[in-house]
Amino acid sequence: MSMRMRRKRNFDARMEACADLLLAKGANGILNMKEAAENFRALIDFKSVFQNDNPVALEIGCGKGGFVRELAKRNPGVNYLALEKMSNVILTPLEDVKKEGVENIRFLNIRAECLPCYIPEGSLDAIYLNFSTPLPKLGYATQRLTHRNFLEVYKKLLKKGGKVLQKTDNREFFDFSLEEFAFCGFDLQNVTYDLHENGNPEWNIVTEYEKKWVEQGLPIHRLEGVWNG
Ligand SMILES: C[S@@+](CC[C@H](N)C(=O)[O-])C[C@H]1O[C@@H](n2cnc3c(N)ncnc32)[C@H](O)[C@@H]1O
Repeated sequence: MSMRMRRKRNFDARMEACADLLLAKGANGILNMKEAAENFRALIDFKSVFQNDNPVALEIGCGKGGFVRELAKRNPGVNYLALEKMSNVILTPLEDVKKEGVENIRFLNIRAECLPCYIPEGSLDAIYLNFSTPLPKLGYATQRLTHRNFLEVYKKLLKKGGKVLQKTDNREFFDFSLEEFAFCGFDLQNVTYDLHENGNPEWNIVTEYEKKWVEQGLPIHRLEGVWNG
């Protein structure tokens, strides 16, 4: 069986209908820095995109987008960017946001590796990493979204005092992340190995993957890494 997901019906026309919400896309998403550099025009001007000066937060690997949509509805005074590398996957949250008319979300169909070509330095208040692919094989460590190479990029993109907020069900990935955050000089806060110990906290927005793991009784690990400069 092919690893590639079959394209959704009328894919191109449906993506086009959401073009106003999509700040970056390639034929198949922007997948590497070479492609990002070739397509580079200018860093995103948040004020002109959102028509306000509100703080901006980013979710990396938004998947079906349930988390970012709920977060944006709970926080109308914050602007959200939702990043997802898979074109076929990003279409669902694009259409949901369009249909619901949520005004404070825009999307990037790019790989996280390409962020510096889009986001101005020192511009983000928060970066959310929800159930990022754990990539357990040692040879893939540099591709984990909490590898120090990524954390160094996040440090540049965050404002002083900005946070990276991570949730995962994978203990090895979580322990790896704790070490990487400490190594890169983030202050760790609110670290828990069992977020749902006493039921879901009212402030916590359960993602699609989180729901699956919680139903199977798996503990959810969560951390906040604060960049104080
Ligand atoms: C396991 S899913 C989690 C989806 C969602 N955040 C949730 O919690 O339900 C991970 C998502 O991250 C995306 N992803 C993985 N690596 C990425 C990268 N380097 N850049 C952008 N997206 C990535 C995948 O395509 C996938 O949709």
